[in-house]
Amino acid sequence: MKKWSLNFIIWHWLHALVVSALLGTVFLRKTFLSWRSNSELIINKLSDMDIEITTQQAKVVAKSIRTPMWEWHILLGYALAFLVIWRIMLFFTDSGKQNYQNLKSESIHKKAVKLGYIGIYTAIAFMAVSGMIIHFYELLGLAKDTAHSVKELHELVYNLILFFVPLHVIGVFIAENRDEKGIVSSMISAKKKD
Ligand code: HEM
Ligand code: HEM
Repeated sequence: MKKWSLNFIIWHWLHALVVSALLGTVFLRKTFLSWRSNSELIINKLSDMDIEITTQQAKVVAKSIRTPMWEWHILLGYALAFLVIWRIMLFFTDSGKQNYQNLKSESIHKKAVKLGYIGIYTAIAFMAVSGMIIHFYELLGLAKDTAHSVKELHELVYNLILFFVPLHVIGVFIAENRDEKGIVSSMISAKKKD
């Protein structure tokens, strides 16, 4: 069974937590804190109280209800950017590169899993860079339209991450219960060095 350093294990679980939390903020933005449904709700409830407001006013209120939650997307975004740099540094350690060495002798399935990891790393790095670009577009001297196009790509690549996370969790669960017993505990109990 593969062995991981404590450094890598801490990175893996922090990364899992941050990516899951980022997905959580997107979930809230698109459901309970959606400005579209909440502005309708605000208009209807106020109308029941004989208070009439415009769609524009309701939109402002609904968006400001969402704002404190969405600040977490940005904070977690900074954490993700830091984790990307940490992972690049880990590539220089035995744990960080073990999955990507001697690929020739691996089964097709294993090669596909590892290709999947490379794919997800590329997507995560793209999310970190594009997220920073959307957040700091004015500081970077970019036009609003450019930031908008980057945001569309950011949202498109989000679907890849949404797909990978459950696939990965189901994948390790199946591996644990078939021919790779101990795969999960190997990502919990660290080897001594590197
Ligand atoms: C309950 C949730 C999770 C469990 C049990 C889990 C478990 C594992 C295990 C056992 C491995 C090692 C696989 C191997 O030996 O090749 C691994 C690797 C990996 N996990 Fe997770 N994971 C979880 C969540 C996540 C999440 C949310 C992400 C975020 C995208 C993630 C990203 C990765 C990546 C990128 C690798 C590859 C590491 C490498 O570069 O070698 N994991 N995971
Ligand atoms: C796994 C990583 C990430 C995922 C899955 C993710 C997902 C998303 C999604 C789906 C949206 C569009 C929301 C909508 O309009 O309905 C979005 C917007 C945004 N994200 Fe991310 N993101 C990630 C990382 C980041 C990072 C690292 C940053 C950097 C700070 C960031 C900053 C932003 C910003 C500024 C917006 C635009 C918000 C707005 O228009 O009000 N994201 N993100």
